Amino acid sequence: MTKLIGDTKFINLPLFKKGKVRDVYELGDKLLLVVTDRISAFDVVFSNLIPNKGKVLNKLSEFWFDFTRDIVPNHMISTNISDFPKEIGSFKEELDGRAMLVKKAEMIEIECVVRGYLAGSGLKEYKQSGTVCGIRLPEGLVEGDKLPEPIFTPAHKAHTGHDENISQEQMENKVGKDLTEKIRDISLTLYEKAGKRAEAGGIILADTKFEFGIIDGQIVLADEIFTPDSSRFWHIDEYKPGGPQKSFDKQYIRDYLETADWDKNPPAPELPEHVIRNTELKYLEAYERITGTRI
Ligand SMILES: Nc1ncnc2c1ncn2[C@@H]1O[C@H](COP(=O)(O)OP(=O)(O)O)[C@@H](O)[C@H]1O
Ligand SMILES: [Mg+2]
Repeated sequence: MTKLIGDTKFINLPLFKKGKVRDVYELGDKLLLVVTDRISAFDVVFSNLIPNKGKVLNKLSEFWFDFTRDIVPNHMISTNISDFPKEIGSFKEELDGRAMLVKKAEMIEIECVVRGYLAGSGLKEYKQSGTVCGIRLPEGLVEGDKLPEPIFTPAHKAHTGHDENISQEQMENKVGKDLTEKIRDISLTLYEKAGKRAEAGGIILADTKFEFGIIDGQIVLADEIFTPDSSRFWHIDEYKPGGPQKSFDKQYIRDYLETADWDKNPPAPELPEHVIRNTELKYLEAYERITGTRI
């Protein structure tokens, strides 16, 4: 059984940021991103840990950063612990497979979402107004339908609370037209390439989210990419528009929580053992289907 890691206070480096899932350590012009086994849903972090989750997220991001480096440069330096600073030296077992040394970027505070299918907050908006992030879509679409073409639907990255969808124009007002257009084109190209790869493994990449940053004036892909935390991964074999899809991602936890007596405000409830185990299996299967290897 692999070691469960819920926090990484044992690392003797200054904390750059403690995210919901990742603990990020400061190394001057670099950062050490450590992916814990924490899980969050509806922006609330649970006290239960999901075995192997940190490794799946880290190694899947590593796979995709290699797979997409012809499209855009990314922040990854190494996931090999022998390349890590000596300060973490005595915690090789704890960190092996779950950490990435990256170039520190000045982050663009926009969640760059691409949607190829109708789900989540997109579906909600579509039902109300026939649009997703202000983009008009054909009438008569149902939950889970494939969109005529993938769309770029940015969101404002909220420091507290929930992210808020914005229009492309609002993004232009925040970061400029040129940067917005470049990021939109890169995001759509990334989605197209990764979507084909995922489909070969029997997974529909329904939507996904990127975070970009700037290093030396260049756009760099940062954070995590095409993980089950940042994307919707659906079973291709069981795909059936008209309702929710069977998935390999956090939707399983969200669906469970809808049946639990919880108002989605902290503290989060305890997750039952079978929900933890099923979540682990879904994350592992996503990894295996995409990479063709086991953790
Ligand atoms: N190369 C980078 N440079 C600076 N910040 C980064 C980089 N890559 C990721 N980050 C930031 O590190 C944090 C990762 O932790 P995470 O648990 O995902 O946080 P969140 O709760 O915001 O999702 C995010 O705030 C992300 O914006
Ligand atoms: Mg994150």
